[in-house]
Amino acid sequence: MTIGIHDISAATGGLVFTLADLAEHEGIDVGKYHRGIGQTEMSLTSEDEDIVTMAARAAAPILERHGSTGIRTVVFATESGIDQSKAAAVTLHGVLGLPPEVRAVEVKEACYSATAAIQFALGIVARRPSERVLVIASDVARYELNSSGEATQGSGAVALLIAEDPALLEIEPESGLWTGDVWDFWRPNDRSTALVDGRYSVQVYLDALEGAWNDYQAQGGAEFSSFARVCYHQPFTRMAVKAQQRLARIADPDGEARDIDRLADTVEYNTRIGNSYTASIYLAFLSLLDNGPDLSGERVGFFSYGSGAVGEFFSGVLVPGYKDRVRVDALERMLASRRPVAYDEYRHRHIAYDRVGDFETADETQGAVRFAGVSEHKRQYERR
Ligand code: CAA
Repeated sequence: MTIGIHDISAATGGLVFTLADLAEHEGIDVGKYHRGIGQTEMSLTSEDEDIVTMAARAAAPILERHGSTGIRTVVFATESGIDQSKAAAVTLHGVLGLPPEVRAVEVKEACYSATAAIQFALGIVARRPSERVLVIASDVARYELNSSGEATQGSGAVALLIAEDPALLEIEPESGLWTGDVWDFWRPNDRSTALVDGRYSVQVYLDALEGAWNDYQAQGGAEFSSFARVCYHQPFTRMAVKAQQRLARIADPDGEARDIDRLADTVEYNTRIGNSYTASIYLAFLSLLDNGPDLSGERVGFFSYGSGAVGEFFSGVLVPGYKDRVRVDALERMLASRRPVAYDEYRHRHIAYDRVGDFETADETQGAVRFAGVSEHKRQYERR
């Protein structure tokens, strides 16, 4: 029996802000953003979008294609939760109209937790192969205005269906793990923007990669030279280049240049979306599926990282025929339909983001589900 990713679909916030605009207002060379960190745009959420509406938009094509039969678990991975107690998975369950015979739970560890959710899902399907698990990764990545992280903000969601005999990727059993209790990026309960020690976080990311890779090897994982591609967590897409260089140095000293060229297939969406925390690594995978060559039967590596910090390296094999099952232009169309916002509107929206008490939101999203506001401390969602 093989288990893995049977389907994948993504969504993004409905607004777009360019880093050229940000650089112009900061009076700096845009090359720092375009080449230095590898970002050209960031997706922003409209007033009536959040992690649940993006998740619903990402999951809709999967439910349309496969129905909900067999889905008895929904795991919602996020850094930007909307309630301290109630799982976003339960709210999403209601919004999607799933049957009551479902366990719904939210998991957290910065940008890493969707990978933990997938590992949990693999265990559930291994015990009962008739079950399928809907894994959601959805985040709004926010930093303070004028901070080092500002240019890396973004928003996006990925929905993954984990099942037996998957149509896209068979996940291999070996996994390399690394955890260290550090403060490189975190967000106390009273803040909607992250605190970050930016350069230190890059170092910890690379240390976690090396640790997870070494453990992957110790667990009997595949040789680096057998990977057609590696999908990295991409807080900014140049981070994937730094990661590939580090991995090549320790695992494949002669293959470095060749392998960096191969990253191009995995960065197309994140370059334009910005950081989407939990969703970022799976947007890298979707970019490879949609924009890369047919790699049927080839091995893909995954390095998942969450600050704080946890890293995991695992692998999978692309299922022959997977290219026929991807929705090649779906995310590209959504990206093209985002409404551009200029600098003043971007700043205004950033400052107005934290609303308290009861309020209603403006009707802005192009998605089928909108966040209508808060009434008596309860978040309200409506379907068009
Ligand atoms: N043309 C081309 N390149 C230029 C340039 C120009 N005009 N100006 C600068 N650059 C290059 C620099 O040389 C540098 O390249 P290297 O990294 O190869 O040295 C790059 O652009 C960035 O420049 P700086 O290092 O000066 O940038 P910075 O210090 O202002 O910001 C950062 C970098 C600290 C990573 C910042 O983006 C940040 O704080 N980001 C948020 C934290 C983050 O994403 N950390 C990643 C690991 S943590 C993680 O992965 C979890 C998560 O999702 C947050």
